[in-house]
Amino acid sequence: MFTLCWSPKGGSGTTVAAATLALNATTSVLIDLAGDAPAALGVSAGSEGILDWMRSDTDPLRLDDLCIEIDSDHHLICAGRPGSVPARRWAVLADHLASIDASDVVVDAGTINRPPSVLSERADRRLMVLRPCYVALRRAHESAVVPDGVILLDEPGRALTATDVERCIGAPVLAEVMVDPSVARAVDAGLLAVRAPRSLIPIAKLAAS
Ligand SMILES: Nc1ncnc2c1ncn2[C@@H]1O[C@H](COP(=O)(O)OP(=O)(O)OP(=O)(O)O)[C@@H](O)[C@H]1O
Ligand SMILES: [Mg+2]
Repeated sequence: MFTLCWSPKGGSGTTVAAATLALNATTSVLIDLAGDAPAALGVSAGSEGILDWMRSDTDPLRLDDLCIEIDSDHHLICAGRPGSVPARRWAVLADHLASIDASDVVVDAGTINRPPSVLSERADRRLMVLRPCYVALRRAHESAVVPDGVILLDEPGRALTATDVERCIGAPVLAEVMVDPSVARAVDAGLLAVRAPRSLIPIAKLAAS
């Protein structure tokens, strides 16, 4: 399964959600287009990453060389050096990711109004990560890509509900995750891979579905 995650608004929890989906698959490769996964997972970033690969003409099979072990069943390909990449390489990447069947693939496309269209076309599952915030919802509504589902951070005191989000986006809320200080602490300590808080279980369950 190839899952694409993104958020139209920064700080929504996309990195946490994508990492949780990847870690709870039987075997997976997490592709980090946004750059924060190594810190959240407590692994050292390689000197090169997916963005460097896209700026080269290197064969997709060489992406294996960029895989960093999170544990024996879960691997990470880091973002690498930021900057623009040729449009044609998105198609090469999308074709390759869609052809992987030995592992699940999770892409963290980061904060972006519209993820690269070839990625969203080839993904099996498009998941938007959102806080129930009016500004985020406005951006999500304007996004040209309708996700298959939403991962929603359940923040106390918000006026907007999961039903409001579903009506606005036109897609179901597949997981509601509590805002929980133990998640923030795990991320800050780079311990997401070894000590995942229980509040992430709703996302973990999506990995198996
Ligand atoms: N369920 C949660 N409960 C508490 N804090 C959370 C939760 N999910 C994420 N956070 C915290 O919110 C912050 C943003 O999370 P994260 O980096 O996953 O968001 P993001 O959408 O990937 O951000 P960016 O736009 O920078 O890529 C981090 O400090 C993280 O620890
Ligand atoms: Mg992020």
